[in-house]
Amino acid sequence: MRASPPARPKPTTWNPLQKLAAAALDTIEDTLVAGLLERSHPLPRAADPNVQIAGNYAPVDELPPTGADDLPVVSGRIPPSLDGAYVRNGANPLHSPRAGHHLFDGDGMLHAVRLRAGRAVSYARRFTETSRLRQERALGRPVFPKPIGELHGPSGAARLALLGLRHLAGLVDASHGTGVANAGLVFHNNRLLAMSEDDLPYHVRVTDSGDLHTVARHDFHGQLHDTMIAHPKLDPVSGELFSLSYNVLTKPYLKYFYFSPDGRKSRDVEIHLDAPTMIHDFAITENYAVIPDQQIVFKLQEMLLGGGSPVVYDKEKTSRFGILPKYAKSSSEMTWIHVPDCFCFHLWNAWEEEDTDEIVVIGSCMTPADSIFTGDADDRLQSVLTEIRLDRRTGRSTRRPVLPPDQQVNLEVGTVNHGLLGRRTRYAYLAVAEPWPKVSGFAKVDLWAGTVQKFVYGEGRFGGEPCFVPRPGGVDEDDGYVLGFVHDEARGESQLLIVNAADMKEEAAVKLPGRVPYGLHGTFIGADDLQRQE
Ligand SMILES: [Fe+2]
Repeated sequence: MRASPPARPKPTTWNPLQKLAAAALDTIEDTLVAGLLERSHPLPRAADPNVQIAGNYAPVDELPPTGADDLPVVSGRIPPSLDGAYVRNGANPLHSPRAGHHLFDGDGMLHAVRLRAGRAVSYARRFTETSRLRQERALGRPVFPKPIGELHGPSGAARLALLGLRHLAGLVDASHGTGVANAGLVFHNNRLLAMSEDDLPYHVRVTDSGDLHTVARHDFHGQLHDTMIAHPKLDPVSGELFSLSYNVLTKPYLKYFYFSPDGRKSRDVEIHLDAPTMIHDFAITENYAVIPDQQIVFKLQEMLLGGGSPVVYDKEKTSRFGILPKYAKSSSEMTWIHVPDCFCFHLWNAWEEEDTDEIVVIGSCMTPADSIFTGDADDRLQSVLTEIRLDRRTGRSTRRPVLPPDQQVNLEVGTVNHGLLGRRTRYAYLAVAEPWPKVSGFAKVDLWAGTVQKFVYGEGRFGGEPCFVPRPGGVDEDDGYVLGFVHDEARGESQLLIVNAADMKEEAAVKLPGRVPYGLHGTFIGADDLQRQE
C-alpha cells in the first residue's frame, strides 16, 4: 500500500522570515489584487460565485459512510445484479471563493453509493486529497489561483505572481501539481483514478465500508511526468488506456500515449500544434485515436495585455480532427481532416465504417463555442448531438445533427455502453441539459434511427450525467441500467435513480442521507474490481 500524499508546509512550521513574507503577500493580495484590481471590474457570470455555486451547485461537507442500516429505497426495487459502487466526481470548493470562481474551479469531491444484492448499503462523500486541497486546508484560505474564475487580466497575472512568490518563500509547494481532480473517473489496472486535465490523476480507493480514501497522486510509478486529460479512453477489448496531455505554455503542446492493461506506459507521440489548445476529450476506434484540434485555445497574452481570459475562441482557426493509428510511433502517421466551425467539448464514441473507409464520430457540438467559459450566452447555448464523418480517402468531412429539428434538445454529458467503446454503437445516453446548465432528464438516443426517448425527472427535479451499467450476461446493447443522482430542489432531497435502459422505466429510487450537488462525470465499479483494488 502506498502512503497518503505527504503533508505540506504549515503556518505553524514557518520561520520568522516566512511569517513576515506570508503577511506581506496576504496584504498585497487583499489590498492590491482583491481590493483594487479585481474590485474595479464586475465579475462576468462565468466567474461570479453567486451564479456558479448557487442553489444545488453549492458545496457540501464530507460525509462518512452511512452506518449499519441500508439506505431507504423509496420506490421500486434495486436490481440484484447491480453489485458494485456508483462513484461520481464533482466540483466542491473547500473554502468560500474570495474572488472569481467558475463551477469547474471547485475542489474535487467524490460521492459513492455501494449497491449489493438488491440493497443500497452505503453512501459516502469525500474530497479527493489533492496537494492543493491539503495545503489550502492547512492555511485556512485559498491560495492557488482558480484557472477559469480568477485568471483574467492584470489581476490574474498578479495572482499567478503571488503563487510564484509564495512558492519561492516556501509558504506553499506548487511542485506537486495544482489540479483539483474534479472532472473524470476511470478504473484501470485495479485503481480508481480521479482526474482534471491540469494535473496527474489521483488514485482513490473505495474501501470495504464504502468510504473513499485518497491513496496518492498517481504518476503510474514514475512513468507520467505531464498532466493528463480527464477523459482517457479504456479499450474494452484490449484493456489498454489511451490518453492525451496538453500543455498551455511550452511545445509540444500535445502528447499522445497509452498504458497496457498492467500499467506500462508507451512512449509519447508528440503532436505539433501551432498554438496551445484545450482538448478536453477525444475518441478511440478499433484501430485509431481521433483527436480534435478545435478553436478554443490558450492565449496568455490576452490575459496579460488584453485584460481578458487566456481561454479564447480563435475565429481565424479551422477546427480539424486528427486520425492517428493507436500504436503510432510518430505524429507523421496522423491524418488531419478539417471540420469547420465545429466545437465538441465531449465525444461520446467513434468507429470505423468498413464499407466507406470513413470514421464516424459522435459528439455534442456546442455553439457559441466559448459559452461555458464566458457564461454570457446561456440563453443562446446549443449543444447538438452530431454525427461527424471523416473520410480518409478524400480527406473531407461531413456532419449532421443526429436528431431532426423538431426533436432537437440540448444534450451533453453522457455515455454509450462502454463495453462497445470504439465500435459501432446504436445507443447513447445523454443528459437533457435544459434549462441550461441544469439537467431535467436524460435521453436514450437511437443513433441509427435518429430517434429519442426521454426520461424526465419531473417538476423541480434535476440531475447530471447518466451512467450506463450493462447487466451481467446481457446480450443486447441496451440490456442494463442507467444510474444517476437526482435532486428535488423544493424538498431539498437527493436520490440515486436507477432506470431500466431497455424500456426506460424507473427501477428504483434510493433516498440519500444528504444533498448531492450537481456534478460532473461518474462511473460504476463492479464488485470484482472493487475486490481487486490496489
Ligand atoms: Fe468532461
